[in-house]
Amino acid sequence: MQTQLVINGERRGGSDGETVDVLNPANGDIVATVACGSVSDMEAACDAAAAAQKAWAKVAPRERAEKLRACYQVMIDNKDMLAKLIVAEHGKPMADALGEIGYAAEFFRWNSEETVRLHGSVGTNPAGTAKMIVHHPPVGVVLMVTPWNFPAAMITRKMAPALGAGNAVVIKPPKETPLTALALADLFENEVGLPKGLINMVTTKSASAPVKAAMDHQAVRMVSFTGSTPVGQTLLRQAADRVLKVAMELGGNAPFVVFADADLDLAVEGAIAAKMRHSAETCTAANRFLVEESVMDAFGEKLAAAMSAMKVAEGGSEGAQVGPLINQEAVDSVDGLVQSAIAGGATAVTGGAPLDGPGFFYPPTVLTNVTADADVAREEIFGPVAPLIGFTTEEQAIEMANDTEMGLMGYVFTQDLARGLRVSEQIEAGMIGLNRGVVSDPAAPFGGMKQSGLGREGASEGIYEFCETQYIATNW
Ligand code: SIN
Repeated sequence: MQTQLVINGERRGGSDGETVDVLNPANGDIVATVACGSVSDMEAACDAAAAAQKAWAKVAPRERAEKLRACYQVMIDNKDMLAKLIVAEHGKPMADALGEIGYAAEFFRWNSEETVRLHGSVGTNPAGTAKMIVHHPPVGVVLMVTPWNFPAAMITRKMAPALGAGNAVVIKPPKETPLTALALADLFENEVGLPKGLINMVTTKSASAPVKAAMDHQAVRMVSFTGSTPVGQTLLRQAADRVLKVAMELGGNAPFVVFADADLDLAVEGAIAAKMRHSAETCTAANRFLVEESVMDAFGEKLAAAMSAMKVAEGGSEGAQVGPLINQEAVDSVDGLVQSAIAGGATAVTGGAPLDGPGFFYPPTVLTNVTADADVAREEIFGPVAPLIGFTTEEQAIEMANDTEMGLMGYVFTQDLARGLRVSEQIEAGMIGLNRGVVSDPAAPFGGMKQSGLGREGASEGIYEFCETQYIATNW
């Protein structure tokens, strides 16, 4: 297990000797002790990235693309080792961990293909007096602050397009799940041969000062963040000081709308995927189930049956479908939302209280009779809880779906395709699953509206996020 900072191709401890323990959420045991980076470590990482970036930007796009393709392959070749690390430090079931590695690797394959198609344009100005050349140089050095819920994929979704476009990166992985990140750095440097300094990783338990130091560093031109909206807002304020480019993938509060004409079995299958994938700790997770009153009982019963049948267990155990939450704080937060909904008149038809230890387990929970103003429907749950709220008309469903400052994801289930498209386009969210519970794909533009974020990751848009646009006016 790699436990050291990655700076300029070297592995080293934190400059002030601090360390941070990584816990297994399934039992609270220490999995590893990792170096804790300081402000000066972060500054050294930014210096290294600045030096490496200059040479990397001059490497031919095809050569950069081939390195990215090799990163894809090395992840696939090492998928079992990487998935084991994810299970140990995050706790998600092995099937989800393996799925994450496939998903994470695909960002390299997709972006290897985009790297050689990073085109600009040439045209004539309207007056016919000049030629207009538009091209897309790399931003330079990009700071990436990544979350613990996808220890691999939320890094590769940023790193692959950034490197493809000719940038160097400084990554601050989460303190809860740094081991997968550090293992990736080893594979990419040692097996693929990415130049030293191109990817730097500074793990740390107290992120604010090192992250601020990176944002103040002269070489850093962009910050790309995935995490909560409040932290994103802080980073946006800090980015303003140096007018840094920003990409923000922030919180969600996804409505999952079930119309009476939906195929209810398909809706339940979609609900399980939308709610429960990766132990219900995704920002795309269905947060509020808005169900047409006439099918509320039928849908509620089927969903409760499917949720209660899921196997809650340590991620490495046979057949595990739901792992632990990341820590005790997460259990307390999820349970707080559940208890406050129950106090407000909701009923837990399955689940409804933390499981006995060891580990941070919360059972799949379905809440009926939830009101739209309950905290559990207003806040991002980030746990295996499905609150059901009734509606009677299409207009009301749309109004309820949009009654949030978040706009990452929405789900619509109906067999009437015209209605499905009509409702989908009225939901204020960057992504919609229409009769589907999973939409994530490296080839799709992932991102949110409203307070759920700025910018898109994946698709063709994703690589341009890590580029500047330069326009050259000339005559010939
Ligand atoms: C996230 O929860 O941050 C990402 C989810 C996904 O990529 O599917």
